[in-house]
Amino acid sequence: MSQDAKKRRVADAAFEIIRNKLDANTPIGIGTGSTANCFIDVLAASQVELLGAVASSEATAERLRSHGIEVLELNSTGPLPVYVDGADEADPRLNLIKGGGAALTREKIIAEASREFICIADDSKRVDVLGAFPLPVEVIPMARSVVGRALLELGGDPEYRQDCTTDNGNIILDVYGLSIVDPKGLEAAINQIPGVVTCGLFARRPADTLLLSTDTDILELSRD
Ligand code: A5P
Repeated sequence: MSQDAKKRRVADAAFEIIRNKLDANTPIGIGTGSTANCFIDVLAASQVELLGAVASSEATAERLRSHGIEVLELNSTGPLPVYVDGADEADPRLNLIKGGGAALTREKIIAEASREFICIADDSKRVDVLGAFPLPVEVIPMARSVVGRALLELGGDPEYRQDCTTDNGNIILDVYGLSIVDPKGLEAAINQIPGVVTCGLFARRPADTLLLSTDTDILELSRD
């Protein structure tokens, strides 16, 4: 089965899990990327009633609007019942690397604001130890060098992502060469470097459920 077909199938599965929780008064959170896009398309095609969606990026907001789904402000909705988003890597504890699409900061804010975080992915994203995918770090532009040096000290090999400005007006450093055996510790260490907005490790607030699409099945994994 193609990767695209797997993404569509896992988006369908996520919708089936949450459809009973949706009604005209209920907002949801929606992430960014090709898998999240599949979920938006499933949601729109279902014509299910919902209040609207909080979007983790301008691209997602645009796609939601193009389907006639209202885009809501997180400051107005309060806590969200559920957030659906993809990931770049997921480990067995459902710690994630996110930010391949540069939307990590808003994604992390929405995950924090949500009671349930359902991560949807194809099985290529499943790893034993995070770090083969370079870890994205959103950085205030003037802090690029100082943060880069601090990331080197933490054992990584940061690379400036060319031609990328985040929705928040910042830059991304992609950190290569990490083998992340302590995701929570590394997340905290990177996030306290002055100039870092946030890093793409989701360990303080991991996913609650990981839906993984394989060639034959949808696996539903929970944090153990
Ligand atoms: C966006 O910044 C990312 O966190 C995405 O969630 C991640 O890159 C997954 O994207 P795909 O669904 O396109 O693989």
